Amino acid sequence: PIGAQQFVPGSATSLDELKTAAAKCEGCELFEPATQTVFGRGGADARVVFVGEQPGDVEDQKGLPFVGPAGRLLRDAVDAAGIDASSVYITNSVKHFRFELRGARRIHQTPGPAHITACRPWLVAEFALLKPEMVIVLGATAAKSLLGPSFRVTRSRGQLMPWPAAAQFPDDFPATQAQALATIHPSAVLRADDRDQAYAGLVADLTVAAQAIG
Ligand code: URA
Ligand code: SF4
Repeated sequence: PIGAQQFVPGSATSLDELKTAAAKCEGCELFEPATQTVFGRGGADARVVFVGEQPGDVEDQKGLPFVGPAGRLLRDAVDAAGIDASSVYITNSVKHFRFELRGARRIHQTPGPAHITACRPWLVAEFALLKPEMVIVLGATAAKSLLGPSFRVTRSRGQLMPWPAAAQFPDDFPATQAQALATIHPSAVLRADDRDQAYAGLVADLTVAAQAIG
């Protein structure tokens, strides 16, 4: 893939500007079969930024991140952890839905390393404008994008980390005061054998982040 960088307006001063530009991104082949780019959602003054994997089927159709079943679960967990939902921005590592057609059904496919790398400039641009205090990394794909290939969510979840040093972002990256915390993806909670326990684990991790920002 050629990557998203050449589609990112270098002079962007608002998230709306980024979103408009991202709608035309052809940085990797995922733009073609998908319905539309699903950009991040939330206010420019958000203190907490959540980073997921990629839009799902529902998100692809509605054009908004985390509006399907995983999104409902995440919203509940955010509330339960005591994070103010109005101070949250939610986005994805990859901004087009990757799927495989089986008959008329669109089956989710995990984005590959090339898609993650191709789409990362949008995340960098979002962070540059948002300057969040806390970055919540949801699951393995977001961890690959932001924390590098050797990071293991299962081993290091629920721990506060300095940001962006951990994320290998550019040296002049503005959000120098931020912290990051990784946890399991809400979709993994939905798939877990013991869903209650998995949900409690997600809420416990998010509570660590909530207490850190006060
Ligand atoms: N899963 C994600 O990672 N992102 C979404 O937007 C929806 C489901
Ligand atoms: Fe561009 Fe990302 Fe969509 Fe690929 S997935 S076309 S890099 S917005």
